Amino acid sequence: MLDWSHNAYYQRLLLRHLPRSCRRVLDVGCGSGAFAARLAPRVDHVDAVDRSARMIEQATRHTPGNVTCVLADVLVDPLPGRDYDAIVSITALHHMPLENALEVLAAALRPGGVLAAVVLPRMDLRREWLVEIIAMVGHRLLGVLFHADRLLRGGNAFTKEHHTRTGMPVVLDPPLTTRQAARVATAVLPGARVRRLLFWRYLLLWEKPIPHNSSPAATPSSPTTE
Ligand SMILES: C[S@@+](CC[C@H](N)C(=O)[O-])C[C@H]1O[C@@H](n2cnc3c(N)ncnc32)[C@H](O)[C@@H]1O
Repeated sequence: MLDWSHNAYYQRLLLRHLPRSCRRVLDVGCGSGAFAARLAPRVDHVDAVDRSARMIEQATRHTPGNVTCVLADVLVDPLPGRDYDAIVSITALHHMPLENALEVLAAALRPGGVLAAVVLPRMDLRREWLVEIIAMVGHRLLGVLFHADRLLRGGNAFTKEHHTRTGMPVVLDPPLTTRQAARVATAVLPGARVRRLLFWRYLLLWEKPIPHNSSPAATPSSPTTE
């Protein structure tokens, strides 16, 4: 009852990192399509990819016409497009070897395009115990606040659907801590930034460099900042 969805909570953060000129976006591990549906009014087209047939069936039902839901494993199958303006992902990259995933996704971005992902880290209590305590207290407080909002205003902010009900594949034992993920990310994608978010996620951001000889007009935009 007082639980709420961290994935839904961090959707807005990713939206803030879309490039200014953003027409075509890839959502990796789209699940039931909640984030793809939120992206749809802001861009021309969204390709929403998931390797679970059940998720793609739900995503197809819950997304508007400018979202193409594709059953595919991003590490195995060809992606539905290339030269994306942005590639986004919420809580899916820890399902796959990060190094491989970053190589595949970087290749699918246009120069100047942005990769923005919210990912589940392995707990690192020794280094992050204070953050963990603050997160637990914050989670409870916001849970009460969101519940009150639901009762008083009928809102449905960050309602959590349990994965056992939706059939959403989850990985509860992520392989990398935030620090380990940062090391992998900066090795594969120089210039990548990784930072711990309060509620049990990290944010990975990378802008694909524009080759020196290409005109900036042909490859517009830089990401908006938080
Ligand atoms: C925890 S769910 C998150 C779903 C959604 N992004 C959300 O925020 O609700 C992770 C999703 O990633 C998908 N996934 C995992 N590995 C994948 C891969 N290699 N290619 C495509 N989808 C993948 C899973 O099937 C699952 O639906």
